[in-house]
Amino acid sequence: MNTLPEAEQLFRRDYPDYAGTRLLDELRAGDYERLDRLGHVYLDYTGSGVYAASQIRAHTEFLLANVYGNPHSTNPTSALTTQLVERTRTRVLEFFNASPQEYVVVFTPNATGALKLVGESYPFQRRSRFLLPFDNHNSVNGIREFARSAGATVVYTPVVPPDMRCDVSALAAHLEQADPTADNLFAYPAQSNFSGVQHSLEWVTRARSRGWHVLLDAAAYVPTNRLDLASCQPDFVCLSFYKILGYPTGVGCLIARKAALARLRRPWFSGGTITVASVQGDRHYMHEGPEAFEDGTINYLTLPAVEFGLRHISSIGYEAIHTRVACLTGWLVQQLAALRHQNGSPVVRIYGPIATDARGGSVACNFYSCDGHFIDHRVIEDRANRANISLRTGCFCNPGGGEAALGISAEELSTCFTRTPERLSLDDFRRCIDDKSTGAVRLSLGLVSNFADVYQFMRFARRFADKRADEI
Ligand SMILES: Cc1ncc(COP(=O)(O)O)c(C=O)c1O
Repeated sequence: MNTLPEAEQLFRRDYPDYAGTRLLDELRAGDYERLDRLGHVYLDYTGSGVYAASQIRAHTEFLLANVYGNPHSTNPTSALTTQLVERTRTRVLEFFNASPQEYVVVFTPNATGALKLVGESYPFQRRSRFLLPFDNHNSVNGIREFARSAGATVVYTPVVPPDMRCDVSALAAHLEQADPTADNLFAYPAQSNFSGVQHSLEWVTRARSRGWHVLLDAAAYVPTNRLDLASCQPDFVCLSFYKILGYPTGVGCLIARKAALARLRRPWFSGGTITVASVQGDRHYMHEGPEAFEDGTINYLTLPAVEFGLRHISSIGYEAIHTRVACLTGWLVQQLAALRHQNGSPVVRIYGPIATDARGGSVACNFYSCDGHFIDHRVIEDRANRANISLRTGCFCNPGGGEAALGISAEELSTCFTRTPERLSLDDFRRCIDDKSTGAVRLSLGLVSNFADVYQFMRFARRFADKRADEI
């Protein structure tokens, strides 16, 4: 293997656009210096982003500069906080270029909180359909429980290995099946947290024109791609800020079209969501705007940190972030795909596209020994941990992506689940499906990834070349 400087020179020759992202190297050396000081090879950006020291300083200074009360009262500390909360709503809309005439921001604890709000409040009924690709996070899959309990039909549309993109004709056919007399919901991820595939945003307009509300899961997409809600106009968008900014955790949002939000019916009320509630009168009246969806006291001290973080991302620009991640992912995927044992068999099998178009910086794969056995992803994780490489293994809460990639059939799953109606541990599940792999290794790149990160990972991956299963 070439030395790091030699390999980087070749990489820069093949990916000339990378040079234009130099600002991120400077930031990594300053604002993110702890990564290199502590020797981390961080490859889990789809798990969470990494924050800049300057974000923490700005937030600390903000906290120390004033006294902030619980919002929604007229007292001075409360009024100040209310103003800051509303300002953050405006900044989020601006960041995603969403018109305040059309969209509102509901703050939630995370993307899952936003998805649950839609799921539990969507007016599913017997004639409704809930359509979704196999390739979804469990927090989207879980909406099917709300749909089914209202008698709606749940329809999964397949993704096809090895590229893991949607079967376009199946999806187009499913989109023709909305009942115009009912509310129908189509939910999909802008970027898969399993394979890194970017599912086309054009499905938004197409689905809406055929009678669907569209719920776009942008959690894995927005850390490295600009989402412009003036050109792509889903009804609902969910995301978690820590995935973009690293800090703060505990804040996500639902960005909703006002008209779509007005269709939702909350199953309960709570402090913060009503204008009036009466005990003896047994009535309650919901707020009209986003407050109707924010249960109790929101994370008001943390919201300004979202604003600092978004300002930081804007000062870097998505262009540089996206270009950098695309270049590094292109190199990493090519190197992994080319890695062979001496007998010519591949060391790594990638689940997802090899080309860089319409794919993000998540790469899912499994390792194979030279005698053709897959190496348990937990073993790879253990070896990576020892090398101070942070990656993620398993199915990343995306069982449909995993089943499609690993070739686990509906029949196998049904046999297994019929045999075990109650609790099922992961080990029992593996035994049940004949010891097939139930997961993969995921490497994901982000804001301050650099060439040394992907080079270190390739050096690690080469250690498995020409190893028999019993030698690992
Ligand atoms: C595509 C996608 N959707 C939803 C989620 C859920 O995000 P959270 O756990 O922050 O609610 C994740 C988290 O990894 C994700 O990658």
